[in-house]
Amino acid sequence: MNNNFDDVLSSRGIVTCKLDNFDLVNSLKAKIIDVLQNSFKISISELDEFHKFITPTELNNVRLKLALSLNEKSYASDLIYSKLNNILRVLLGPDIAIQKNVGLSIQTPGDSSSLLHIHSDVYDSDCSPYEIVIWIPLVNCYSTKSMFYLPFTHCESIGKYLKLSENLRKNLEDPEEIKNSIEFMDIKPPSIALFSHSIWHGNKVNETNETRFSLNVRVKNLFTPYRGKKLGDFFKIAGISKLSKLASNIEVEINE
Ligand SMILES: [Fe+2]
Repeated sequence: MNNNFDDVLSSRGIVTCKLDNFDLVNSLKAKIIDVLQNSFKISISELDEFHKFITPTELNNVRLKLALSLNEKSYASDLIYSKLNNILRVLLGPDIAIQKNVGLSIQTPGDSSSLLHIHSDVYDSDCSPYEIVIWIPLVNCYSTKSMFYLPFTHCESIGKYLKLSENLRKNLEDPEEIKNSIEFMDIKPPSIALFSHSIWHGNKVNETNETRFSLNVRVKNLFTPYRGKKLGDFFKIAGISKLSKLASNIEVEINE
């Protein structure tokens, strides 16, 4: 892991990290390939060829089934935490909450039905700024096959960066002001990205001839403030220090 990993994340709002092996991505891919075979009779070895096996009308049904399978008994979020807990402890400390259900993104070439215009999760939904997103590419992601973002370093202060919202809202589809400053993530397995979802980010129509498959899941320090997405409902405890565990046991005892 990069030594200044958390410095980069906190200054740019996003950092990539190359994992030591393909264990995580291979397990996730194997699960997806298995469901495609068993539920849809689609035999595929390279996920970025997926669009050749599916019609646009079938896509949502497949996406739903895959997400259900990945999230059954928190399979994907438990696996992701088990493989990344060393990295996450550096960033968040030992007390960590993770989103119960991971998000699955499938962007087939030319598909405009699942676009996310530029947004910031803290502005545009009830997410806490203490959350970070783990973004896991299952295929090689680049250009419009990937996600775009605007690093915090685009502005000299976080205050000015967040104030961009006023102008961005005038044309979310194609914001003139930052047109030349947004960057598409260039990333492939076994690398992952971690980012503050306060950054401006989104996707465009995939103009490559390959399908993007990626997963995203949110994590945060267990004891930081929550907004709409609550512990027990949206998040679950992934890791807890011995002292915090002891303290919570004491608290239960004295409140009985
Ligand atoms: Fe987002």
